Formats: sequence, C-alpha cells, structure tokens
Amino acid sequence: MQHRTDLPSAPGPIGVFDSGYGGLTVWRWMRDLMPQYDYIYLGDNARAPYGNRSFELVYEFTLQAVHRLFQMGCHLVILACNTASAKALRTIQQCDLPQMDPSRRVLGVIRPTAECIGDVTQTRHVGVVATAGTIKSLTYEMEIAKLFPDIVVTGEACPLWAPIVENGEAQSDGADYFVRKHINSLLARDPQIDSIILGCTHYPLLLDKIRHYTPQEVRLLSQGEYVARSLENYLQRHPEMLSRISCHASRRFYTTEQPDSFNENATMFLGEPVSAEHIVL
Ligand code: DGL
Repeated sequence: MQHRTDLPSAPGPIGVFDSGYGGLTVWRWMRDLMPQYDYIYLGDNARAPYGNRSFELVYEFTLQAVHRLFQMGCHLVILACNTASAKALRTIQQCDLPQMDPSRRVLGVIRPTAECIGDVTQTRHVGVVATAGTIKSLTYEMEIAKLFPDIVVTGEACPLWAPIVENGEAQSDGADYFVRKHINSLLARDPQIDSIILGCTHYPLLLDKIRHYTPQEVRLLSQGEYVARSLENYLQRHPEMLSRISCHASRRFYTTEQPDSFNENATMFLGEPVSAEHIVL
C-alpha cells in the first residue's frame, strides 16, 4: 500500500464504491441532497456480485477500491455496499487507514440504516433482506441491538437478487420467482415483522417486485435517503473533512467492466447521461 505522502492532499471528490450498480441507488440520494460536491463512483462490476464471496476476498477487493479512490484524490469514501460494509469496513478503519492516512475516512451504510429503524417499527419486529455475506455476518443484528435492544431482527439471505440485477434481469419472470420466495420465507419465519430493511444497495432496483409480494402494511426501507442524510449530518459535524471536499458539482464514473453496458444501465437508472471509464483495480 502507498504511504500517505504519496496520496494527493488537495481537496477532492467524495468517493462512492459498490460491487456494481447497487451503489447508484445511494449515490442518487447523495447527489440530490448535496449536488454541490464532486463525486467519483466506482463499480467493481467485473467482480460482482460480492455477496457469496469469502470475507478475505471482499476485504481485499474493497481495500483495493478504497486505495484507488484515495489515489484519485478522495479524502472520504462511502462504501455504498452492505456486503463490503459488513465484511471489510471495520478492518479498513482500524488496521489500514492508520497506515494509509489516518486523516482520511471510510464510512459504510449499515450503521445509518440501523439508526433509523427505531422510529419506523411499531411491532419491534424487523426483517432484513440482504446478500448471504451480509446476513451471515450478523452485522445488522449487532448494530440494531446496540441502539435498540428491544427490536427482534430476522435476516433472510437472498443470494440471487444481486446477480439478477447485475445481469439486467430485474424485470424478468425469474426475478418474480425469487423475490416472492424470499419475502414469503421471511414473513413465515416472523409474522410480526412490520418493516423490512432492503439491506443490499442493489435491491431498490427490484423495488416494484418486492413491493408487489409484500403485504401493504409492511414497510420497506431503502437505504439511500438515510445514508445521504447521515452523510450530510456527518459533514456538518466534521468541518475538517468538509474543507477537504471539492465543490464543482462534477461527477465521474468508473467501472472494472466494459463501460458500454454500465453507461446504458446507469443512464437509464439515474435519468442523466453517464459516461464511465474503464478502470483496473
Ligand atoms: N450491493 C451490494 C450490497 O449492498 C453487494 C451486492 C453483491 O455484490 O452481491 O450488499
């Protein structure tokens, strides 16, 4: 890893990282709430999905991406990926940042989501749908227990949902089958659930189908808004970081896959033209 003196020190963009397209569902909220900042979005589409990968690989891939975003001038990186937040964030914060540059920051998406759940659930029974990696890590259970020990959390691993999105099949009949299967399974395991956290940033791209198979009285929580508001609040509390974010409203997109399909999908989803560049991590 590069030493801190090799990293650019001038103010730079906010880095947003995900295994693929999912982080766009978070970045869209960040852009709408804080359009003045510069952003770099990095999707590791060539190696997505991360959800079924080992702890070691998710950590290694995420660290590579964070380091590259630092090299590109970012002082603050948001892991807009639950799997990376669950499996890599703590180690990067505690072991890697002190060596790379202790003044840079990497933040995840699970804590801000856990913080909001206390106000949302009435029954105090909450479901989490996420990748196998996120569910196995029990990170949601631990984060929610720290803040709201009375809330019962039931996690449901949905190993095919992110691959369905990455492969452009979110509108297919296959997507219906797998969405219905896991929503039914989750609600059968705890019929008192009144709120379901979409604990994977890819899942808002399946939102219509998830809503269709979920009883109307059960609330669905997409993370984008909560993560964006939490970031805004963080920057208000940390003027030293705010002064290191450049503000020209520029957006750059990078993908480890070929940019054409990334551009097409991202443009459709964001409603603005996206012209990504290829990057090797
Ligand atoms: N979007 C990511 C998440 O929030 C990862 C999905 C995947 O790559 O499996 O977990």
